[in-house]
Amino acid sequence: MDYEKLGQEAIAQIEAASDLDALEALRVALIGKQGSVSALLKTMGGLSPEDRTLTGPKIHGLRESVNEALTARKAALEAAEMGARLASETIDLSLPSQGVPTGSVHPVSQVMDELAEIFADLGFAVATGPEIEDDWHNFTALNMPESHPARAMHDTFYFPGDAGQMSPREGGNATRMLLRTHTSPVQVRTMLAQGAPLRIIAPGRVYRSDSDATHTPMFHQVEGLVIDRDIHLGHLKWTLETFLKAFFERDDLVLRLRPSYFPFTEPSVEVDVGFAVETGPDGKARRVLGGSGDAPGHGWMELLGSDMVNRRVIKFAGLDPDQWQGFAFGVGVDRLAMLKYGMDDLRAFFDGDLRWLRHYGFSAFDQPTLSGGVGARP
Ligand code: PHE
Repeated sequence: MDYEKLGQEAIAQIEAASDLDALEALRVALIGKQGSVSALLKTMGGLSPEDRTLTGPKIHGLRESVNEALTARKAALEAAEMGARLASETIDLSLPSQGVPTGSVHPVSQVMDELAEIFADLGFAVATGPEIEDDWHNFTALNMPESHPARAMHDTFYFPGDAGQMSPREGGNATRMLLRTHTSPVQVRTMLAQGAPLRIIAPGRVYRSDSDATHTPMFHQVEGLVIDRDIHLGHLKWTLETFLKAFFERDDLVLRLRPSYFPFTEPSVEVDVGFAVETGPDGKARRVLGGSGDAPGHGWMELLGSDMVNRRVIKFAGLDPDQWQGFAFGVGVDRLAMLKYGMDDLRAFFDGDLRWLRHYGFSAFDQPTLSGGVGARP
């Protein structure tokens, strides 16, 4: 048998392989378990010792050169593939930014704009506070002293408690620093800074040590606060109804106020909104807000925490609770966005995945206006 010729033919085939799949097929056909060169190796056992010394090296040499040719061709094909990929993925950094429209408004920003628009119409200003907050504003002034069990409901990120991380409070003791666990400290800060009367919303980032499909360590809340004379629960209910109907663009929203507990409100309610279960175009069941949650095929979903500001909080914030009352509410902005625009995993909000942003993001020209209905249009 002409092993040299066999080798040359095999090598020619290998060098002609046009892609990695074709090359792999050749490798199997030649030196795979059932391959032709492997079969030759197996014949050596049946040879006489003389023949074996003669042909053995030739068969081994054949196998060796086939192997080398395979390795070399593989490297060449891989390099060519990489080169093609790099060429096709080239980014031209010198392209002018104008004329290449890209980027979109994140759903959280969109919803915050919508909230600001709705509440501006009701006479609310937008207030802000620091995300690195102190213990006093985040807890103590909200009627949660050091030993208060409600503090445990907040999985707080504290800064290391050495003296360098403590903030001296005006006229008070040093207080520990933390990442605020809710936007409620902005209630206290705004009352202290501006006095009464007051009508504000305070949107912003808040932090809790929690992570699953509906919880992330950082998320967004919007706080609402009204301080004035003779404010009562009726004002609160009307405000929330007006806000939620405008936000979800549905007149048939039904709210249910359920007794609850927050240290900073007294009484406290949790506000549920009625929804219907409908079958979507994809055949999956989905919740559509609207109608009473008690109707057949309906349910109630918890939406926000709220009620009359506790007298002690008003006092901590430097006002006389016999003169001034008010209501407050807090609601998750991300949750509002998910309910309105249909996302089901909160974590994706913060992955920065361009494909997600392109899918859910909004055009910068979608400025929410009440006259147009505040929702963004696809
Ligand atoms: N701060 C509360 C929370 O984060 C929400 C809330 C705000 C409740 C205002 C009542 C009044 O859960």
